Amino acid sequence: MPQPDPATLPLERKASLLSGGDFWSTQPLDEAGVAAVVLTDGPHGIRRQKAGADHLGFHASEPATCFAPAVAVGSSWDAELAERVGAAVGREARALGVGVVLGPGVNIKRSPLCGRNFEYYSEDPLLSGVLGAAFVRGAQAQGVGATVKHFAVNNQETERMRVSAEVDERTLREIYLAAFERVVTEARPAAVMSAYNKINGVPASENRRLLTDVLRTEWGFEGVVVSDWGAVGDRVAALAAGLDLQMPGPDEAHDAAIVEAVREGRLDQAVVDASVRRVAALARLAVASETGVDAVAADHHALAREVAADCVVLLKNDKYTLPLADGLRLTVVGEFAARPQFQGGGSSLVNATRVDTPLDALRSLGHLVTYVPGFTTDGTGDAETLREEAVRAVCGAEVAVVFVGLRGETEGVDRENLDLPADQVELVRAVAAVAPRTVVVLSTGGVVSLEGWHDSADAIVAGWLLGQAGGSALADVLSGAVNPSGRLAETVPLRLEDTPSFLNFPGEAGQVRHGEGVMVGYRHYESVGRAVRYPFGHGLSYTTFETDALSVDVTGDDTATVRLRVTNTGERTGKHVVQVYVATTAGRVRRPARELRAFTKVELRPGESRIVELLLERRAFAHYDIEADRWHVAPGAYTVQIGESAAEVVAEQTVTLIGDNIAAALSLDSAIGDWLAHPVAGPMLRAALMAEATEQERQQAEANGDMMEMVASIPARQFLHFPGVSVSTDDLTEILEATR
Ligand code: BGC
Repeated sequence: MPQPDPATLPLERKASLLSGGDFWSTQPLDEAGVAAVVLTDGPHGIRRQKAGADHLGFHASEPATCFAPAVAVGSSWDAELAERVGAAVGREARALGVGVVLGPGVNIKRSPLCGRNFEYYSEDPLLSGVLGAAFVRGAQAQGVGATVKHFAVNNQETERMRVSAEVDERTLREIYLAAFERVVTEARPAAVMSAYNKINGVPASENRRLLTDVLRTEWGFEGVVVSDWGAVGDRVAALAAGLDLQMPGPDEAHDAAIVEAVREGRLDQAVVDASVRRVAALARLAVASETGVDAVAADHHALAREVAADCVVLLKNDKYTLPLADGLRLTVVGEFAARPQFQGGGSSLVNATRVDTPLDALRSLGHLVTYVPGFTTDGTGDAETLREEAVRAVCGAEVAVVFVGLRGETEGVDRENLDLPADQVELVRAVAAVAPRTVVVLSTGGVVSLEGWHDSADAIVAGWLLGQAGGSALADVLSGAVNPSGRLAETVPLRLEDTPSFLNFPGEAGQVRHGEGVMVGYRHYESVGRAVRYPFGHGLSYTTFETDALSVDVTGDDTATVRLRVTNTGERTGKHVVQVYVATTAGRVRRPARELRAFTKVELRPGESRIVELLLERRAFAHYDIEADRWHVAPGAYTVQIGESAAEVVAEQTVTLIGDNIAAALSLDSAIGDWLAHPVAGPMLRAALMAEATEQERQQAEANGDMMEMVASIPARQFLHFPGVSVSTDDLTEILEATR
């Protein structure tokens, strides 16, 4: 039986649909056949609270698979992998009665200190957007909705519900909106979550420009805009701006405010109706029955292990320390080996179905392992005693594997520095001084400083937060069962002071100025030539790859096809990430030294070659032109570069693009130089200026051509008032007409 259009219901009923029915679900509207749909976190596993809902984690959630968080998946540079994670999370969502997953998070890692960086993919918008879109495709193919969050410019936790991110339009478009744009336009997520913060003074949840003009009008988004939990201050302003659903709920006061605003004519009824229809449409995702995840738990744990192994980044590997040969005497040191840190805190916390430890996993792979804790992270135990015990234990070993890391990384709190705890640093140095070979394995949700101990370690493995199977995955990589293929999705700087946001993070007096503009992450380091410990895109392998036969063909309307051959020249099967950057100085804006514009991951057997083809769309060459208010490909030369990382180019080719010539629209405020350069206005203005000149004056003006350069920046309006200028406002208006 066809259901009545929910928009025909009484206003009060409609308003009630626009805030949650409880902490995790929407209101049902029985009379219109609209069910309640459950929305829950997300992103790397399902946190389904049934026994009681809270935001503080007092109530445990149902068991679910904890996959590698985004910090790790970002380092995989593997869209297919992200899609498989999305699909598995989607399957578990359904099994747990969840219709809408609150993920992925595609905010940019602006500062390594952001406390939620473990939930985000990268400092680069292309990498974030491609992986986010893949996650959405995977999840939504299971019949659940995905929610891309936190829209937008939510790059810190300090004052996250009040701070205003002050950011210029070009930076907004090129850096902070780009990943959202890709996810929305390519993967069509069911929902977009508005952020807590303000953008240029306007709260994200009341930001009409973002929620309606950009998201719906420009990008064609048709789904639901949901608030971050508790983000809505002014419900009527939020609704008018384009925010459909307020979570959590119910919120009778806000419902009443909507009704009153409509009755008083302050809010258009049509706005309410449009939101009601969208929320009602979302409810088609409601899941009727729940089975729990037991049936898929074993398969998903195996998948979690496979995924995690492909996210590990081998940062350093001197003297062929890794992989660990069979039968070596190993001493494993460090609490993180026995009690792994595999996820961060906050709304994304998953009640894992099981947890693998690196220690057990190394033993089960047949290694002879002695274990000592080396330190504690809860303050119990004397650091010196534990360190001395560790030093004694490694004396008889062939290799020491030291597991260090951070505890307590959580939503809501930014980090204060990049350092590992001092006792862990001292431990690494002490162990490395006596062990024949030392491997350091890091478990961190973001980048940490490697200074002070980097040179004493023979091998360094970035193990991020790898989810519940991370322990086995690390053992797989250390032992060589899996070839490491992760690449840094974030630069490892030498010092916090070198990071581009250093002087403007986390802001002051309620504002955080994004003063570094588009120069975020590697864009900054490469543009200013600043040394880093490890660049964006870096990652070693147990095998070797070679790249050759690069060709770049401009294939149409400023798009290009990039072809190259990749060969596995080593002795192990492994995966290689092809990174395509574009470098240019075209256009009237300062471009970063190079920008990642395409990437793919290929698996090759020893000796195998493959021709890899990647498409560079127009956008790969464009910058956001704030005067024309659109993307613009400036005519000129563009160098397509294949990078081992953002800092190491192994092949390049330059192409020339016709670009789109935006003839600047002139006004009386345009500079006289722009008037003179204009194809129509220029000759007319020149003629007008010379209309009353004598032959001698004409010749003098020709000879003094460079005088025009001196006056080129004067606005036309002011230029008219210079003595000797015989052109009037009317003349200019007439010329303007001719240009239209
Ligand atoms: C977080 C969101 C999350 C929501 C629901 C908020 O605190 O910022 O990412 O989805 O809570 O738990």
